[in-house]
Amino acid sequence: MPLSARIEAEIDRALARATRARPPARLAAALHHAVKPGGARIRPTIALSVAMACGDDRPALANAGAAAIELIHCASLVHDDMPCFDDADTRRGKPSVHRAFDEPIALLTGDSLIVLGFDILAEAAQAEPARAARLMSELARYTGMPHGICAGQGWESEAEIDLATYHRAKTGALFTAATRMGAASAGQDPEQWTELGARIGEAFQVADDLLDALQPSDVTGKPAGQDALHNRPSAVSRYGVDGAIRRLEDILSGAIASIPACPGEAMLAEMVRRTAKRLTPAHHATPAE
Ligand code: IPE
Ligand code: IPE
Ligand code: MG
Ligand code: MG
Repeated sequence: MPLSARIEAEIDRALARATRARPPARLAAALHHAVKPGGARIRPTIALSVAMACGDDRPALANAGAAAIELIHCASLVHDDMPCFDDADTRRGKPSVHRAFDEPIALLTGDSLIVLGFDILAEAAQAEPARAARLMSELARYTGMPHGICAGQGWESEAEIDLATYHRAKTGALFTAATRMGAASAGQDPEQWTELGARIGEAFQVADDLLDALQPSDVTGKPAGQDALHNRPSAVSRYGVDGAIRRLEDILSGAIASIPACPGEAMLAEMVRRTAKRLTPAHHATPAE
């Protein structure tokens, strides 16, 4: 089965679980709006790729871990778009959740998706208690405080921000969770997978900053120029466009070099190269005027 089919099937199963038995209809619809159709599903794809490179001997657990990461990611986008954060009207080419519904529904959608992510891992724990507990603890670590997405978003409320620390928490955290949880789902020690996730995450954030600076919103499906508008530190404001592109290339070669020795090493290097191709600005559409 292709990875995308595994990911979508598990996400659909999770959504059905959260919206069964006559739930509040608008909140149920908002959960669907936030999760389907998805964006690139890059984090769960990385998680399953690493699980496969490590033998993928518990595919149901790997699927649950991958979907849980994506649900947390979707939750973070719903909250990120709200007026108290970036006040963004669009996401993935559609109205953001608070625009399509309202702010209370957007807040509850994010909350519900976070809980759902942990719930599907708790469900998977019935068959695989030890490994599932590890996945839950990994996911909590990279979602919350002091180093997860919550911390990353929290840095935006500080007067002084270290760009690397901010990016590592805001974006890198879920990529690190993806490689570590992929390995842990297949019974491997996650420690040696930290660097690969962190490097892909760092590259991804630089690419997202370039996208924000260079691409119009009809290409990205979300408002353009947000970093400059909110006076937020970004790789482009720090290094300039050319410097950021050079940095992106350096980080991606480092990512390939950091892949641990394993049966799926060559397959993973290919996955990173494919990701790199998608992230590099030359492969995006024409820059905005
Ligand atoms: C966007 O993430 C938010 C960042 C962390 C920079 P993605 O670009 O992965 O969003 P989707 O899921 O593909 O829409
Ligand atoms: C979103 O970061 C990252 C999280 C929600 C953790 P950004 O605000 O930079 O990303 P976009 O541009 O809205 O996708
Ligand atoms: Mg933001
Ligand atoms: Mg945003």
